[in-house]
Amino acid sequence: MHKYVINGNRPLYGEVDISGAKNAAVAIIPAALLVDGVCRIENIPEISDVTLFFSILEDLGARVKVLNRHAIELDCHTIRSTRPSYNMARRIRASYYLVGALLGRFGEATVALPGGCNFGGVRPIDQHVKGFTAMGAEVTVESGAIHAVAREGKLRGANVYLDVVSVGATMNIMMAAVLAEGNTVIENAAKEPHIVDLANFLNSMGADIKGAGTDTIKIRGVAALSGGSYAIIPDQIEAGTYMAAVAATGGQLLIRNIIPKHMDCISAKLREMGVTIEEQDDALLVRRDGPLQRTNIKTMPYPGFPTDMQPQIATVLALAQGTSLVTESVWSSRFKYVDELKRMGAQIQVDGKVAVVEGVDHLEGAPIQACDLRAGAAMVIAALAAHGTTEITQVQYIERGYEDIIGKLRAVGADIRLVDEPDPAGTVQQAG
Ligand code: EPU
Repeated sequence: MHKYVINGNRPLYGEVDISGAKNAAVAIIPAALLVDGVCRIENIPEISDVTLFFSILEDLGARVKVLNRHAIELDCHTIRSTRPSYNMARRIRASYYLVGALLGRFGEATVALPGGCNFGGVRPIDQHVKGFTAMGAEVTVESGAIHAVAREGKLRGANVYLDVVSVGATMNIMMAAVLAEGNTVIENAAKEPHIVDLANFLNSMGADIKGAGTDTIKIRGVAALSGGSYAIIPDQIEAGTYMAAVAATGGQLLIRNIIPKHMDCISAKLREMGVTIEEQDDALLVRRDGPLQRTNIKTMPYPGFPTDMQPQIATVLALAQGTSLVTESVWSSRFKYVDELKRMGAQIQVDGKVAVVEGVDHLEGAPIQACDLRAGAAMVIAALAAHGTTEITQVQYIERGYEDIIGKLRAVGADIRLVDEPDPAGTVQQAG
């Protein structure tokens, strides 16, 4: 266990290289279970959620060869079990992808119900189940695990209309469908960049998926996927987090190794707040030297403003002139972090799905905690901008999704350090 100690009120200057996308990696790595050959995957973020996935796959019988910090070779033709370790799978939200991948390849899967960041209630998976069932699977939940079995030994293609736009259900049904008999159509599909990335990965291994990135995804089942090589896209949310950080502190950052188009929804809002953003081929130059202006934010599925940037942007708005409204429309409750920001002097009132943010002149350092991954990122941003010293505990949440956040921030002038501390509670970690 450790905590971050940050001396704030310093502008950030320099360059930050963005890592591979967490939410693409945690889908693509289990999707390798569908591949009957060796896949080489590059631009993998070095974060604890990914490391946990490697352990889960190894435990199932896969050969995992680490080529370097960001590249691995996975050989899943040696898989001997369709029951991932309960204790490992329950720690990670994205373990639900093991159901789609194992069911699609072997016709059955038994996987612990997923954990994940708690956004104020149970995170349902009914749309995943709806898809598997339409494809001929029988899905039951017993003793804390999802058990799915293809009634005819193999799934068959189906038309699935999603009642809610779900990233996880879209990816999971896509995985289940690539080796199914016949065609699958997913209507009202999610369109996030990591959906397109998963489809590109699977297509590069021999799948036949069309329409990823639109509302309708069509998958023609193929007999087998063979190996290949693939590089994961850059992390939109990590990039957005550094953009928000420089907006809060002032200064100038060149955010490199990104796809600027993926950042449009975030850039548009930061520009409204008075931040200057210049686009380059695979980088954004982000500068803030004047005062921050108020604006309103409403989270939406892509290409709307991402819910995974809501805590970070609300933290910047806490320092803007005037009153802003932040509406969370993806999750029923994602404002737990507001109480921590209030300890630092932020003036925010939450009423259901809306936070009313009254900008203050500055925040003051305080002992605070990360209550989940993106809330933790917001705490780091608040601390970087605040006057005085902030100590952030529960930082294991942050490390599940941000590669080397300390090193990257120190390189651009932040005064942030990691301090070891005992963990009396022995907390179970969950994220994503
Ligand atoms: N939903 C249902 N039924 C389902 C699935 C989802 O009602 O079967 C609802 C959810 O309750 C929520 C909405 O649909 O209100 C969207 O949920 P979605 O399924 O899209 O979320 P997810 O797949 O569980 C992923 C990311 C989250 C991110 C959301 C939304 C991963 C591992 N997680 O979760 O990322 O917030 O999409 O973009 O990809 C994070 O990275 O911090 C994080 C939490």
